[in-house]
Amino acid sequence: MSDDLKDDAPKGAIRRFLAAPPDSVGKTIFVAVSVCLVASMIVSAAAVALRPIQEVNALKDKQINILQVAGIYDPNQDVLESFAAFEPQVLELATGTFSDQFDPATFDDRTAADDPATSVALDNDPAGIVRQGKFVTVYLLRDDAGAVDKVILPIHGYGLWSTLYGFIALEENGNDIFGLQFYQHAETPGLGAEVDNPRWKSLWNGKKLADANGELQISVTKTAPAAGADHHIDALAGATLTTVGVHNLVNFWMGESGYKPFLDNLKAGGV
Ligand SMILES: Cc1cc2nc3c(=O)[nH]c(=O)nc-3n(C[C@H](O)[C@H](O)[C@H](O)COP(=O)(O)O)c2cc1C
Repeated sequence: MSDDLKDDAPKGAIRRFLAAPPDSVGKTIFVAVSVCLVASMIVSAAAVALRPIQEVNALKDKQINILQVAGIYDPNQDVLESFAAFEPQVLELATGTFSDQFDPATFDDRTAADDPATSVALDNDPAGIVRQGKFVTVYLLRDDAGAVDKVILPIHGYGLWSTLYGFIALEENGNDIFGLQFYQHAETPGLGAEVDNPRWKSLWNGKKLADANGELQISVTKTAPAAGADHHIDALAGATLTTVGVHNLVNFWMGESGYKPFLDNLKAGGV
């Protein structure tokens, strides 16, 4: 073989690759893979860098929801400053008393509900939550004299497509509802997501959980229950399945397996 021919011959894979035309299969795949790699590195770096900001914003959003359900949210005021009005407490559900085992400032309800040491698997599970934390963070709003004015209690349960997370605000008597609000769910906009409609949320104000005999009667249904309109919130139009989920989760959390021991304690003046 002549020297010229030797020089022209590709020497190794890299040379063959470099010598190939720009629109060759090899170069096309190389460019596509390189672009994917660089893009995925940028996305991963952004996700990691933005996570602390997302966590801060999620916490702020939750605090705004707690302020809103308690009726004291002022968009012109700093959220942290407004939120200082609340007294957070970690509640032991079974006893209905506050626990000093955990710091309310750092206690994470959802992590605790996943941990077998701080949660129970539910046999009777109308709210569709599988496991229930033994402890939850509740928020008290006290008046100037130090007496309880409102209690804000976290609630959650399955709708049609998703678990709805929210809060119910009760008056100091532990029976009258001040408000209900969900801050996280994935129900369909215009159907199940109408749980966020201010007009529907306003229906909760003034309703009573239990009747004069202390029987839980709260009902989210198409027609009013026998117990009467005081205990009835109209169903969401065209979203019966989400409505049933809300009815079930509210009844679960306000009942024996939920806040009943705490509400009894509150009514007895023990809080
Ligand atoms: C795409 C799609 C999304 C839906 N999303 C919801 C929903 O978020 N919540 C709900 O209760 N029903 C939803 N539905 C309707 C339910 O399938 C069901 O028809 C409805 O809950 C019955 O309510 P009604 O008895 O008030 O008509 C959806 C239906 C479709 C086709």
